[in-house]
Amino acid sequence: MDKIKIIGGKPLFGKVYISGAKNTALPIICASLLTDEPVTIQNIPFLSDIKSLNALLLQIGTNIEEKAEERNGHLTQTITYHTPQPTSLVAPYDYVRKMRASYYVLGPLLTKYGHVELSLPGGCAIGARPMDIHLSSLEQMGAKIEIKNGYVVADIDGRLKGAHVAFHSASVGATCNILMAAALAEGTTVIENAAKEPEIADLIDVLNKMGAQIEGANTSTLTIHGVEKLHGVTHEIINDRIEAGSYAVAAAITHGRVELVNAPAQYLQTPLDILRKTGAKVEMTDTGFIVDAQNVKLVGQDVFTDYYPGFPTDLQAQFMALMCVSEGAAMITESIWENRFMHVPELMRMGANINVHGHASAIVRGVEKLSAAPVMSTDLRASFALILAGLVAEGETIVNRVYHLDRGYEHLEEKFKAIGADIERIKIPD
Ligand code: EPZ
Repeated sequence: MDKIKIIGGKPLFGKVYISGAKNTALPIICASLLTDEPVTIQNIPFLSDIKSLNALLLQIGTNIEEKAEERNGHLTQTITYHTPQPTSLVAPYDYVRKMRASYYVLGPLLTKYGHVELSLPGGCAIGARPMDIHLSSLEQMGAKIEIKNGYVVADIDGRLKGAHVAFHSASVGATCNILMAAALAEGTTVIENAAKEPEIADLIDVLNKMGAQIEGANTSTLTIHGVEKLHGVTHEIINDRIEAGSYAVAAAITHGRVELVNAPAQYLQTPLDILRKTGAKVEMTDTGFIVDAQNVKLVGQDVFTDYYPGFPTDLQAQFMALMCVSEGAAMITESIWENRFMHVPELMRMGANINVHGHASAIVRGVEKLSAAPVMSTDLRASFALILAGLVAEGETIVNRVYHLDRGYEHLEEKFKAIGADIERIKIPD
């Protein structure tokens, strides 16, 4: 339960190296279960979510070899996953409750080994987070699924069968799970209304390199011609668009100038357009982009979260923090998660003027300044929003429950210190 202390008021200047994408690494690590050959994944970020998933794979019987190495100018991890024969086909409650993306073992273990028991993750702070699309699609592919004692128990006779499945929501998680399951199914699977997030295209890329036959990357209709066997591969995952967008807001909100090295600007068009409209300058470089908001009066802009290529829900809280200190009113609408405004009361404790309407929208009226306060993290992205508010608040802000940040932001204090923030972790012994 460490805390982060920030003294606000310093504009940020310098370079931030963007890390590998957490939400790409998680499904790709689980894709290694689809083959009994080694799979080497490069550019994996140092995050507690990765450690949690590695712990689950170890208990499934995967051999894991980790190596830290310098890539693209900063320290990254290369990890080799090798599962010649699993020793367990169970994803227990204690692992899944720590990290819900553990559910990515469902598709791979079921399609390759014919049986899996996965603790149902349940809801979390941002919403109910159902798994109906994952389960009904697998049933359409011939799986027998029962819910027993909080677990999904899934079995197949022989191989999964290709099917035509249409998702009622363009779910990232279900798209990944069904892609992996269908890769080894008998016959062709078509997914309609698939998610188009860049993380999906990276998963398709690695699966195709492993011998899968998947067509339609970056579109909402994916066609998977099942194959009998997949082989090992070495793959470098893409960089984290949400981390890049988060530091882009840090540059803007502090009226600084920060270069985001290795930042995938091509996946951030909608948020970067909004950032430009606030008045911040966004300039492309060979490897990423620069955000410059020196001597700029920021003007509030509306934000509507949506499926990719719409504005990412995972940047909503950070942009709300920005609008809190921008001139005028901004309407923030959250269309993906039903409970993703938990940062609002914390921002209001720092002096923000926000009015929430129902579950889906909030009006933010910009204020001249925020004042520091002890605040509480509620989820990963909300926590970053509180850090942003702390960077511009007068006085000393303490952000409690920092473990949320450690799940998804690699070397956070080091990256902020390198661009001049007055930030420090206060270690609280267990
Ligand atoms: C992924 O979650 C991300 N997590 C989330 O990031 C992100 O907010 C979300 O996609 C949306 O972009 C990971 O990649 C590990 P979904 P996921 O299935 O896959 C509904 C972060 O901060 N739905 O795309 O769980 C669901 O209720 C995290 O890094 C169903 O109705 O999200 C939601 O409204 C937080 N039934 C919508 O679809 C289902 O079976 C999108 O959810 C599945 C989803």
